[in-house]
Amino acid sequence: MEYKRSSELFKIAKEFIPGGVNSPVRAFKSVGGTPIFASKAKGAHVYDEDGNRYIDYISSWGPMILGHANEKVIKAISLTAKKGTSFGMPTSMETDLAKLALSMAPGMEKIRFVNSGTEACMSAIRLARGYTKRDKIIKFSGCYHGHSDSFLIQAGSGVVTFGSPNSPGVTQGTADDTLIAPYNDLKFVKNLIKHNNDKIAAIIIEPVAGNMGCIIPKDGFIEGLRELCNKNDILLIFDEVMTGFRLAQGGAQELLGVNADIVTYGKVIGGGLPVGAFASTNEIMNYLSPDGSVYQAGTLSGNPLAMSAGLATLNELKNNPGIYKSLENKTSYLEEGMKRILKNNSIDFRINKLGSMISLHFTSEDVIDFKSAQKGNNEKFKKYFHGMLSEGVYLPPSAFESYFLNDALSSDDIDFTLNALNKVLKSI
Ligand SMILES: Cc1ncc(COP(=O)(O)O)c(C=O)c1O
Repeated sequence: MEYKRSSELFKIAKEFIPGGVNSPVRAFKSVGGTPIFASKAKGAHVYDEDGNRYIDYISSWGPMILGHANEKVIKAISLTAKKGTSFGMPTSMETDLAKLALSMAPGMEKIRFVNSGTEACMSAIRLARGYTKRDKIIKFSGCYHGHSDSFLIQAGSGVVTFGSPNSPGVTQGTADDTLIAPYNDLKFVKNLIKHNNDKIAAIIIEPVAGNMGCIIPKDGFIEGLRELCNKNDILLIFDEVMTGFRLAQGGAQELLGVNADIVTYGKVIGGGLPVGAFASTNEIMNYLSPDGSVYQAGTLSGNPLAMSAGLATLNELKNNPGIYKSLENKTSYLEEGMKRILKNNSIDFRINKLGSMISLHFTSEDVIDFKSAQKGNNEKFKKYFHGMLSEGVYLPPSAFESYFLNDALSSDDIDFTLNALNKVLKSI
């Protein structure tokens, strides 16, 4: 495959944009080579500026659950755009999306829209601190909750790739208020709480993690966190920016059967436009301005274009619940095929999968947390990534990311992917 035009565009972009990209993982640093510049996408396929076509397994890092340029989503955005793109005044669409999202989100009574998952998580923590009148939070190593200061401490996703778990610019004071525990280690969390008696406002977690590859919570882990929070008056925050409306209508809360006190959303809720949100009970949300004193605001929050894309996407998911079964079936088909081919090629691997999230790790050990995820063979991953890319399959350009399948993927697409894998593994 030729990447000539992408290479040229990257060179020019680097002159004007730091690293040539507006989000680090797009730069291909952990896999090397030139990032592919997208020109258009439709359904399960994305096209680059050189005219190459790829089967897309990142779905814009999650949002495009229905596939790219879905007719209903595009129509909704176009109709809205004709009436004006931003007013800085409330619109009925905000209430419509709030009502719809809350009807799908177990236990949540009010929701506030923001512009990104980062903003949602940052605001959720502020709300938890304001509500509990405590300062510290517990997060899990390898979990990524966006790029606000409190979370850039042993974070996953692009932060891992760049080897800067404690980013310069984050003050020691902020870092001191973020306590870190290993994922899936309830005993460790119990101890942290014991040693920080009455100081912890919230535990924030990706209930199914997607930023160190896909990591599934062990039986009893999430339930144990819920119990610990209840006992110690700590708020449990589920970061469902990846899992919300993806793993089920009610996200990981529904799938795992555990309710959080605050849930953050992003990605799918905006249907490909910039939307984040956080939701909770009336009691907790009433602490938020203008009703309460915890401040939070946004010029473009609840933007009409973004609301219309979110409404079209969530309506489709709510009215066609079969989509979740179909996504799961596609992901299982992919998983089984990958397992068969990897075994036939005598390669050490682990595959983690839940719903439409899946990741492949080149290791012989179970991948259950950040430490075990780091044991994956990155050299092998690089060859695998570039091999698949040159066969026309676009995977996440980092071993620390999950794939996100979309509903437009056909069984032909998956068969094509498996054939490509078989070819690529011969040269690894
Ligand atoms: C679990 C999780 N939380 C928060 C974020 C931050 O969202 P955004 O990139 O929209 O700021 C991400 C982004 O990938 C995420 O995966």
